[in-house]
Amino acid sequence: MTTDKPTATVKFGKVLSILLAHLHVWLVIGCTLLVCTSPWIFMGRSLRNTASFWDYLHVYLGLVSAVLGLLFLLRNTLQGKWHQYFGWLVGDWAQLKQDIAGLTKGKLPVAGGKGLFSVVEGIGMLLLVATGLTGVVWFVYQGTSTAMEWRGYHLICAQAFIGFLIVHIVLAATHIIEFIRQ
Ligand code: HEM
Ligand code: HEM
Repeated sequence: MTTDKPTATVKFGKVLSILLAHLHVWLVIGCTLLVCTSPWIFMGRSLRNTASFWDYLHVYLGLVSAVLGLLFLLRNTLQGKWHQYFGWLVGDWAQLKQDIAGLTKGKLPVAGGKGLFSVVEGIGMLLLVATGLTGVVWFVYQGTSTAMEWRGYHLICAQAFIGFLIVHIVLAATHIIEFIRQ
């Protein structure tokens, strides 16, 4: 007998495709919250019983963002798409050089392609995955000295990721200004 009711698999598929289509938006929200509330967290080697709301938010939103960050990297690199963000790994520097040469003459780079925008975005996706993974390893080894070691790696990755966010936001803003001027 056939039924018109969607099965659990179909529903799951729909939720997954909505999630994948809007990954950048979810990451903007997740990462902004994680970075902006990070001055209020203090965990050290483990999430204690006395942990604050901000500590719990960081750990659980961090775990969700780590998974989303990995999905974002996979979505943007599988099926040959990696070439746009990581072309420089195989010696494809032409557009990047052109963008940098243009910048020195006051010309803003264009988005898309294999230029400055995409190279920065590729590095950003790697930094996000590294930040997420080092956080996950801290979570797994909580309460041990290994956790403290990974907390240290996490702090380095998180700071590098914030560096990326600043460059990415400045580039995105210049792009929007350019678009308005046209
Ligand atoms: C992927 C998204 C994540 C981002 C963007 C992020 C960002 C940050 C930032 C900005 C800091 C403060 C760095 C500093 O003070 O210099 C931090 C600290 C920390 N994060 Fe994350 N984090 C993420 C995921 C996670 C995950 C998944 C965990 C663990 C489940 C975690 C656990 C920690 C811990 C333990 C600290 C140090 C807190 C302390 O003891 O002071 N983070 N994170
Ligand atoms: C937190 C604030 C953020 C803002 C305001 C922002 C802004 C933007 C804008 C405006 C674009 C479109 C660029 C264009 O085509 O002109 C873009 C694309 C992109 N952003 Fe962000 N972004 C943010 C966070 C992030 C984060 C956390 C990542 C993760 C690494 C990321 C990675 C990317 C990538 C890979 C693209 C190109 C592909 C795509 O649009 O899916 N961004 N961003």
